[in-house]
Amino acid sequence: MCGIVAAVAGSNIVPILVEGLKKLEYRGYDSAGLAVCGREAIERVRSVGRVAELESAASGTAATSGVAHTRWATHGVPSERNAHPHISGSIAVVHNGIIENYESLRTELTAQGYIFTSETDTESIAHLIEATLKDEPDLFLAVQQACRRLQGAYAIAVIDHRHPETVVVARNGSPLLLGVTESGNYAASDASALLQVTRNMVYLENGDVAELTSQAVRIAQLDGTQVERPVHVSELSAAAVELGNYRHYMQKEIFEQPEALANTLEAIGGSKTVQPGLFGAQAEDLLAGTDSILILACGTSSHSGYTARYWIESIAGIPCTVEIASEYRYRSSVTNPRQLVVAISQSGETADTLAALRHAKALGQLNTLAICNVPESAIVRGCALRFITRAGPEIGVASTKAFTTQLAALFLLALATAKVKGRLGEDREQSFIEQMRHLPVAVSKVLDLEPKIEAWAKRFADKQHALFLGRGRHYPIALEGALKLKEISYIHAEAYPAGELKHGPLALVDANMPVISVAPNDDLLEKLKSNLQEVRARGGELYVFADADAEIPEEEGVHMLRLPEHYGLMSPILHVIPLQLLAYHAALVKGTDVDKPRNLAKSVTVE
Ligand code: G6P
Repeated sequence: MCGIVAAVAGSNIVPILVEGLKKLEYRGYDSAGLAVCGREAIERVRSVGRVAELESAASGTAATSGVAHTRWATHGVPSERNAHPHISGSIAVVHNGIIENYESLRTELTAQGYIFTSETDTESIAHLIEATLKDEPDLFLAVQQACRRLQGAYAIAVIDHRHPETVVVARNGSPLLLGVTESGNYAASDASALLQVTRNMVYLENGDVAELTSQAVRIAQLDGTQVERPVHVSELSAAAVELGNYRHYMQKEIFEQPEALANTLEAIGGSKTVQPGLFGAQAEDLLAGTDSILILACGTSSHSGYTARYWIESIAGIPCTVEIASEYRYRSSVTNPRQLVVAISQSGETADTLAALRHAKALGQLNTLAICNVPESAIVRGCALRFITRAGPEIGVASTKAFTTQLAALFLLALATAKVKGRLGEDREQSFIEQMRHLPVAVSKVLDLEPKIEAWAKRFADKQHALFLGRGRHYPIALEGALKLKEISYIHAEAYPAGELKHGPLALVDANMPVISVAPNDDLLEKLKSNLQEVRARGGELYVFADADAEIPEEEGVHMLRLPEHYGLMSPILHVIPLQLLAYHAALVKGTDVDKPRNLAKSVTVE
């Protein structure tokens, strides 16, 4: 996490740094800072809190080169002292990532007389580069040399006030790209920060160090070998990362779901069949030899994985397991070279998912598929097959449109696998495809239920706890609903498969425990209704999301909301939407920071 921006140009770059930080604020927002090459020395401004505060503090600053940072604390509390940039002598450094050998570097540099003023791992990088510059005065070469000593993940940007015409950046593990123009060159953690100046982006590879001047860019690897990296023209539109008429990004992203799904499903075009080639040229052969699927993911992405498990086993008829990436990466597991490993990630840079993928590959599991929203991300580049969801940039920390588009991609995976395995009849295939095409419309109709959901949110926003229930393929939807509520309203929420209620959580149920139930009209509805009776009998207040034709009577203590269409196997894609809206409106009532909930960040690039 953390976001970095760097710039060198023929005119004042401070407004560009600040604007870039605003776009990267989703990556971390407990403090922010910038440093520029002033006439006499480095000029630094830092502030605890949001970029808006930094902006006013930096209003009198102007320069033609500088670096900036928005922080999500790992080493050291959020404070001005720990905020980046960190300075050593004439240089200033911003950093995203974690330096694993920072303690030994700190000991070594302290022995050389460097005085540390923060608790961060980043300050070791600043002193290390300063120390290296004593023997190697060229900043580009000194950064290459210093980076050879760093262990861990980093993206850094460095300035030296003795050379205001240059900015040096380096990348290993954490994302970093360049924006190149004729009048200035820029670097940032993601493209959204640089769309204000250019669409021409250069993605740095791990181990790259780049020297930027206002006129040119040079890239070398850590051993000094010069390399060329291609310029990509970003397809992201600046408007896609603007808030427009919405109050929050989360609200915007919830309402963008029909379009996000339509864009993602463009992959099938006008076809009446599912082509395995959607997942890559070798997908058909690879799926033919696949005997099981292992899904690796974190957070919301793991919930799409849990949902897919129901689809893959029932439609494609092969075993599917889902593992939380941070657990799998350290577990001794039984390897199976015929298993397809699916890494699901919105950002494509989540450290645990990336490490779990590498772990699987190191064990010989080479059949890998990325389902991801960011085409150039590390996870996509690390997989043999790929499916890019086309949700567009997701800025709100709580994931919404990325989740539903992942579900659409995973449903396609279940169909493609079933087809290759000879388990998908033509009629069934066609009717699934027709249903998928109708999804954007079906989702729009669910979004129309917002006013009633808003009223519900008002009823229980003052509660301390909430219980979410679901069964079958809707149990992961209950998990996702509980996660959404926790993340942004800070109401403690837990999800259970409804049949498990009697084995513990029923003890918690009383009039103060709202129980939210995902109750589509499927083959488990009758079972679920009995579970709901158990709640009513204990005085629990029920909020039931049912389907239009579900026979559940509305009565005292049972609030009902009916989704307009029953969507069969794909129903989880519709049923998660009211839960997103519920969490959003509960957070509004509570007055929390919806898009930037406390202690969290969007892209978790640290372990
Ligand atoms: C963070 C975000 C979540 C997200 C999770 C996994 O915790 O706040 O919204 O689900 O990371 O991220 P990924 O980018 O891998 O899907």
